Order: sequence, then C-alpha cells, then structure tokens
Amino acid sequence: MNIPLTLTLSEEQSALQSESRKFARTEILPIAAECDRDSTFPTEFFKKAHASGFMNLYQEVECGGTGLSLTDTCLVVEELASGCAGMATSVVANDLALSPLKFFATDEQKEKFIKPICESGAFASFCLSEPGAGSDAAGISTKAEKKGDYYILNGQKQWITNGGYASQYTVFATLDKSKKHAGICCFVVDADTEGVTAGPHEDKLGQRCSNTTPVQFDNVKIPVSNLIGKEGQGFAVAMKTLDASRPMTAIIATGIARAAYEHALRYATERKQFERPISSFQGIQFMLADMATDIHAARLLTLHSASLIDDGKQASVESSMAKRFSADVGMRITTDSVQIFGGYGYTKEYPVEKLMRDAKLMQIYEGTSQIQRVVIARELLKDIS
Ligand code: CAA
Repeated sequence: MNIPLTLTLSEEQSALQSESRKFARTEILPIAAECDRDSTFPTEFFKKAHASGFMNLYQEVECGGTGLSLTDTCLVVEELASGCAGMATSVVANDLALSPLKFFATDEQKEKFIKPICESGAFASFCLSEPGAGSDAAGISTKAEKKGDYYILNGQKQWITNGGYASQYTVFATLDKSKKHAGICCFVVDADTEGVTAGPHEDKLGQRCSNTTPVQFDNVKIPVSNLIGKEGQGFAVAMKTLDASRPMTAIIATGIARAAYEHALRYATERKQFERPISSFQGIQFMLADMATDIHAARLLTLHSASLIDDGKQASVESSMAKRFSADVGMRITTDSVQIFGGYGYTKEYPVEKLMRDAKLMQIYEGTSQIQRVVIARELLKDIS
C-alpha cells in the first residue's frame, strides 16, 4: 500500500516497521561488528532473513517474493540498514538483480528465473558495471554474439554485490559497442554455466560483510530464451531498474544516518565535559538538530520517490534526488557523529566509525552522487535547451 501524501503510516506499515526493527535488533546488531571486522558474509543470517520474509521484499508473491510495494520495502530496508548497511545491501541486491525480470520478463521467464531464486533463498546478482564502465553504463564492453539459438558472452563485470554467492546473474552485454546504449541487451545467466567465474571478494573500506567480486564470462553459451526484453532494450531495462532501486539504496543511507544520530544523541547526554553533559552545549545541540532534520528530509524524499514508482509514474529525477540527498546526508551525519564521540568515536570500541565507513559507499554505488546530479540537471534543462 502506498503512503498517502500526509505520509502517515497505516497500522500495517507501522507493524511492518516494528517487526523489521525487532529483526534488525535481534538478528543483525549482535553480529554486525564481528562480520565487519572479519569481512565475513553472514550466510546463516541470510537464511533467517529468507525464512522470515526479509529477502526478495519487492518481488511478487506469485513469484515467491514477499510482495511489498516499493514504499513498504523502503520502510523495512531502513530498519535493516540501521543494524548493518552491508547486510541491507546484500538483501536488496537480490531485488536489484530480479527487478529487470519483474519489469521486462515474460510470465514464462518469471516462472523460470525469479521463482526458483525467491523460493530457495538463493542469491542473484546484477551485473552492469565493468572495470572500464562505471558511471558510463552505456560504454560497457562485455560482448554478446548471436549464434543460432544461443548467445555467446565474453567480458568482465566489476563490483558485483553477492557475486561470489549468486546462483544466477542478470548480465548486461552489447551486441555492437559502436551502437552505445542501443546495442545493449539484458540476459539471465546461470552461475553454473561453463565459462562463468566469480573472482575474489574485495577487501573494502566499509560494508565489509557484503560480498563484492568481479565476475568473468568466457565464451559463455546461453539460450536465446534467456534474453530479457528485446535486443537493444537492455540499457532501458537497466535504467528503469535503477530508478526503482535507488530509493532502496537511498533508504540504506538513511538507516545508517539514523543509527549514527541515535548513538550521538545518547552519547551526548552521557558524556560530561566542563562538569556537564556535552548535550547542554549549543554547538552539540545544533549538530543534533541538523542531523534529525536531515534524516527526516531524506526519508520523506525517498518515500515520496518510492510512492511515485508504486503509482506507476516515471520518477527518475525523484529517485536520483532521494539517492543524492540521502547518501550525502549519510556521510555528513556519520562524520558528525564521530565528531561528537571525539577520540572515542575514532576507535573501533564504538560503532560510529563503522557507520562512517559504511556511509561512504552510498555516495558511490548505484550511481555516484555526481551521476544523480547529472540525471536531475538534464531533466531541469531539457525543456529550456
Ligand atoms: N528509463 C528508461 N529509459 C531511460 C532512462 C530511464 N530512467 N534513462 C535513460 N533512458 C534512455 C533514454 O531515453 C535514451 O533512449 P533513446 O535513445 O531512445 O532516447 C537512452 O536511454 C540513453 O540515455 P542517455 O542518453 O541519458 O544515456 P547516457 O549514456 O548519457 O547515460 C546515465 C545516462 C544517467 C549517466 C547512466 O549511464 C547512468 O545512470 N550511469 C550510472 C550507472 C549506475 O548507476 N551504475 C550502478 C551499477 S549497479 C550497482 O552499483 C549495484 C551494486 O551491485 C551495489
């Protein structure tokens, strides 16, 4: 159900939010620091998340998903991210990989490619970025060659979330690089297909428990029935998918920011300097006031963009605004939280340094903050030029 313009949560939405918060407190928070330290992918956690309906949130019930609207998905994801952004990222990565199919696959393809993933609790990965094509998504080099009833894929994908655990990849490849975006196609590739190799897990600054790998495709032969949408439609498939997934990443940034704010608020009332809690100083109060305001604004922007998508409206600009604003807010608030904790905040004894490291990624993946500004500015200038 969509959030109405008043943005008052319905009883069902409040219950969903409380249930997700409880799940984050009991299943995520106790293991978050250890998984971060060791860069461990928490397989058992994901099994519990799947069993409790916290995986494949945005996928249709008929396809084995939880069947939430994008708005409700965002309510859940904020709670998961407030526990650990890396786990939230790995959770929503399945929705990112399956949404091209949700939007463009035939019923037969949905049955074949979405349902088994959702029902089994397996992972799927979205493979767009490459070593030489990040922001310039239309500049991908992974090649698709049609040979009879098959396509042969060759190329390398980079920064693939859950790449080492996925049993299925949603892969974007070009039939003809000179055609730029018009040559791109979207394919489903079974991870067990000969020639598919996931590389080693990246040793990242933050979101360390989320698995990130390169994935190599060497003469990978896939049937034509694995083409999603039409030949040359792949770029639009990717962009429409990102329109819907950017609110999910925006709300991860909000979840991180909220956790940092809550830690800072508590600490500011406990920590005494000059014989009084530091929260009694206006310098700290103003930081807390700005944090609370920015979190509220980020959440509203995100839920609004999600509700537009739920209503079937074009919301590229609103999604980009939500992602840009929330990611930048996440970075600023986590940095300020470390500042309020002072020297203690800079140590691993307290959770705020992790939040600051986790927040940085939000300004980079699913389109950098600069790319979001490109999307927004192009639309602003469209009718003028
Ligand atoms: N929906 C549908 N179609 C769209 C669209 C959208 N949102 N945006 C663009 N298109 C269409 C355009 O209408 C145009 O079509 P026509 O030729 O028919 O007119 C076509 O696509 C090309 O559009 P542009 O000219 O705007 O394309 P561009 O090359 O200039 O690129 C861009 C635009 C916004 C910069 C895009 O490349 C982009 O979003 N880059 C960032 C990529 C990104 O976010 N990558 C993240 C990878 S996933 C990840 O990080 C996840 C993870 O695992 C953690």
